[in-house]
Amino acid sequence: MKEENMMKTITLPDGTELATIGQGTWYMGENESRRHDEIQALRTGLDQELQVIDTAEMYGDGRSERLVQEAIANRREKVFLVSKVLPSNAAFDDVLAACNRSLERLGTDYLDLYLLHWRGAVPLSETVAAFEQLKEEGKIKRWGVSNFDTDDMEELWNVENGKNCAVNQVLYNLTARGIEYDLIPWQKEKGIPIMAYCPLAQGDRKEILHNDTVRELAKAYEVSVSQIALAWTIQSGHVLSIPKAGQAAHVVENAEAANLVLNKEDLAKLDKEFPPPTSKVPLEVV
Ligand SMILES: NC(=O)c1ccc[n+]([C@@H]2O[C@H](COP(=O)([O-])OP(=O)(O)OC[C@H]3O[C@@H](n4cnc5c(N)ncnc54)[C@H](OP(=O)(O)O)[C@@H]3O)[C@@H](O)[C@H]2O)c1
Repeated sequence: MKEENMMKTITLPDGTELATIGQGTWYMGENESRRHDEIQALRTGLDQELQVIDTAEMYGDGRSERLVQEAIANRREKVFLVSKVLPSNAAFDDVLAACNRSLERLGTDYLDLYLLHWRGAVPLSETVAAFEQLKEEGKIKRWGVSNFDTDDMEELWNVENGKNCAVNQVLYNLTARGIEYDLIPWQKEKGIPIMAYCPLAQGDRKEILHNDTVRELAKAYEVSVSQIALAWTIQSGHVLSIPKAGQAAHVVENAEAANLVLNKEDLAKLDKEFPPPTSKVPLEVV
């Protein structure tokens, strides 16, 4: 493969390299009439070397995981498979049981990454202990968290084995830049990448799609507005984005965005339209 055709990557704390664009699956598997297209979309992503597929026990109450099973059949080794445990299942024995259920629905005997979907009432030390146990049993390769703000990450860091956290998955897009103030710098210092969810602001945020500057840049780079928005999320080199695309054509576009480099002047134009934070902004969530 020629150097210029190689997909940009980020590196996990254990040295694993991953393409900076992956695939989300929220709402996939919930509508029978879209099932075929969604499976094709995920397979197209794997053909495009998008390794990460992100799902969760919550999505469609397990239906998203079942759809992923079908999409990755016979291609398990090409996938970096991520699932999430709900905070209501974050107690020690419940994590072990939830993981077994996810593995069964996904038709695999291991997850590449298992995330706590968001913080609940269970002490972090208990959930981390369960994650470590799953690692020892070979059921997960590594674990991480989601929707953790900087103070949550600080707390996690002081829990036994908390420093084994591989990733924090949070909301990040042009209209939600609060994490640039403190969370991205904190994680950068600790070497823990950000996994950006809703990188396209769920596809319907008019502030991005109808923004004149974004549209002008799309024209200048001969790409779509979504590709500008997506490419922007990974410019720092510390973020892996997981757009959800139920249509194969969208997946191909998203994969192309991994190699789109926005120059300094154009990044500054985007800063003007979508200003970076100048003080602490509480973590946004959906
Ligand atoms: N950890 C958490 O709490 C959390 C929360 C939210 C999301 N997530 C994860 O992050 C993933 C992504 O977030 P999201 O699904 O909420 O929103 P998103 O990825 O920002 O947006 C998805 C929407 O964008 C559209 N789209 C995708 N590629 C496109 C393209 N190239 N051109 C035009 N439209 C395009 C999709 O349409 P089509 O489907 O029609 O292609 C879909 O309607 C989720 O699926 C999930 O895996 C995690």
